[in-house]
Amino acid sequence: MTIIALKNMTKSYGPRKILSDASFHVQDGDFVGIVGRSGSGKSTLLNILGCLDTADRGEYFFDHQLIQSKDEKQKTILRRDHIGFIVQDYGLIREKNVFYNIALPLLCKNVPKKEIQYSIETLSNSLHIRNLIDKYPDQLSGGEAQRVAIARALIRKPKVILADEPTGALDEAAELNILNLLQNLNQTDGVTIVLVTHNQVVADLCKKRYSILDGKIVEV
Ligand SMILES: Nc1ncnc2c1ncn2[C@@H]1O[C@H](COP(=O)(O)OP(=O)(O)OP(=O)(O)O)[C@@H](O)[C@H]1O
Ligand SMILES: [Mg+2]
Repeated sequence: MTIIALKNMTKSYGPRKILSDASFHVQDGDFVGIVGRSGSGKSTLLNILGCLDTADRGEYFFDHQLIQSKDEKQKTILRRDHIGFIVQDYGLIREKNVFYNIALPLLCKNVPKKEIQYSIETLSNSLHIRNLIDKYPDQLSGGEAQRVAIARALIRKPKVILADEPTGALDEAAELNILNLLQNLNQTDGVTIVLVTHNQVVADLCKKRYSILDGKIVEV
């Protein structure tokens, strides 16, 4: 089953076309890597897939729903309930501690406190951030902030994970740990994953690889 379908998308910034009549499909349960040079449009594409940005032309269907027909509130709910987004600059809330940052997607849904605590304990163990739970984002290293952002993306057990260079700030051991976690989610729970990476080792672990070339999304 197709979970993501982009049809003939065009997206420009000023005179520059980033995506030009581009199409892209992701099947339920896929593990897709997007590679390509800096500035080619990878984050732009991921932002459109995550309903954070819209294209100028074309259609985007997420789980067979036409995204252009949704208002901002509907898109927020869809994102919160079905998409785990790991953004390139982590997107943590500076004024709140790590626990709150991870819990945020659950707090919006009025999940019982005990359940939240249990979920955070499990995740923070597997991501090795248990000791950071009371800290604030500006007290974290880049790699620690990245793992907190990953925990927040995973906590609602989303159908789809969109990850923009999720391991860019990590050392090799931490990177492999995250990749194992993502592969497990993909293989065991059937979570669909679309990740942007510059790292060939990471790209090689993906089941399919695409690149953005001259505004088109091509399989490589
Ligand atoms: N809001 C914006 N306004 C104008 N130009 C933008 C905007 N966002 C991105 N761009 C431009 O669009 C192009 C694609 O940007 P994007 O962030 O998608 O690249 P990327 O492939 O993710 O690069 P990187 O690998 O460096 O993260 C770049 O040339 C960038 O400067
Ligand atoms: Mg980018």
